[in-house]
Amino acid sequence: MSDKATLSLGDTTYSLNVFTGTENEQALDVRQLRKDSGLITFDDGYGNTGSCESSVTYIDGDKGILRYRGYDIAELAKKSNFLEVCLLLLNGELPSKEELTSFEQKVATFQNLPPEVLQSVQSMPAGLHPMGSLGSGLQALGGSFPHLCTNDRAKDLENFDDAAALIIASLPALAAANHRKMTGEDYKHPLSSGNYCENFLSMMFSQEGDSPINPSLSKALDLIFLLHADHEQNCSTSTCRMIASGGANPFASLAGAVSALWGPLHGGANMAVINMLNDIHQSGDDGSKFIQSAKEGKSRLMGFGHRVYRNYDPRAKILKSACDQALEALGVSSPILDIARRLEEVALQDPYFIDRKLYPNVDFYSGIILQAMGFPTNTFTVLFAIGRAPGWLAHWKEIAQTGKKIHRPRQIYQGSNLRDYKTIEDR
Ligand code: CMC
Repeated sequence: MSDKATLSLGDTTYSLNVFTGTENEQALDVRQLRKDSGLITFDDGYGNTGSCESSVTYIDGDKGILRYRGYDIAELAKKSNFLEVCLLLLNGELPSKEELTSFEQKVATFQNLPPEVLQSVQSMPAGLHPMGSLGSGLQALGGSFPHLCTNDRAKDLENFDDAAALIIASLPALAAANHRKMTGEDYKHPLSSGNYCENFLSMMFSQEGDSPINPSLSKALDLIFLLHADHEQNCSTSTCRMIASGGANPFASLAGAVSALWGPLHGGANMAVINMLNDIHQSGDDGSKFIQSAKEGKSRLMGFGHRVYRNYDPRAKILKSACDQALEALGVSSPILDIARRLEEVALQDPYFIDRKLYPNVDFYSGIILQAMGFPTNTFTVLFAIGRAPGWLAHWKEIAQTGKKIHRPRQIYQGSNLRDYKTIEDR
């Protein structure tokens, strides 16, 4: 294909460069177009806009491919673990044994909250959602380590490794501190010898005299984190990059990403799936009525559909079988898992879903595992955020290293033309 495209407008033609990524994705370069023609491109919701060049994650939505730094998600899910994937995303390469051990030790030392940060979590309003608490907690954490969040890009980059380890270590502690506060329990310090997920599960749920954390549970949680670790330019990551493009530090950029993730069409979908499945269960429906109402546009089949995937989300495929294993390890049965399976079966044979290429996404099965583990529904999106943190951080670093421009889209104004101010008596 030619590396130039031509745009004709009246008598004038404009030549646009076509450039190609490492997986042969092609893009029209419109950066000069406004300067040359006075026109901007319009792409409401950015469905057809490449906002950046990135080397973190590759997705082919039609084929259902997801790769972190070139490694296939299914292979990573089988052979790697969350902290190793954190380093892969942050540094671009799989770590050596020494690098991984040193990162694990760094994370372990940071896994306890500084007293003033703990206090700030504990003093937040009782009505605040765990995602609100997480975002505010992140900002408070930055305040406890001012040398790691200066808004001076060169300094923040120099200290990035420490900031990243601190954030990855502290998010579970912030989540657990908030959970214990909501349940009226005292903060629990991390275990002296637990791994990342064992520590988190212990800080969340352990009671005096409990037996050690079931390793199959911490493994299942590790897998959930790994599968959520990055997903290129989604809503929260784009938010993170946008904030970072203005020169903000990693703590502020990730706090913004947490807010973006909260919504039900993004990370909040994992909570919405469980609420939907519970409602279906309680109404006595086997899923058929719900499918009908989704087709009529009266409801949305949460956990289905994706802006990028027009095929089975590879993460959902892995989680579907992990779900069976986790429930077996816990020795519990889940009536809502049966409903989820039935919804999937019916939807995948229905022309409405087939024509629109709507398949289960990562949120369809993750909530069922989390619910079986005992996580309250309103903490599910917090778990998504813990998993997504290394991705957000990798994108923050990419912007800090390569982004020269503040992100600033344009618009087509459709409001009132110039009009005279009316005094309040005349309105
Ligand atoms: N249930 C029923 N119909 C749907 C669904 C759904 N879950 N998703 C899309 N559609 C229909 C939609 O009504 C539209 O139909 P029509 O062409 O007749 O108007 C068509 O499919 C295209 O939908 P869209 O809203 O234009 O697609 P989008 O790319 O803008 O939205 C989405 C993607 C994920 C927001 C959407 O599929 C959705 O709302 N899904 C449910 C929420 C969900 O599970 N979100 C988690 C996404 S994965 C985790 C993450 O990355 O955050």
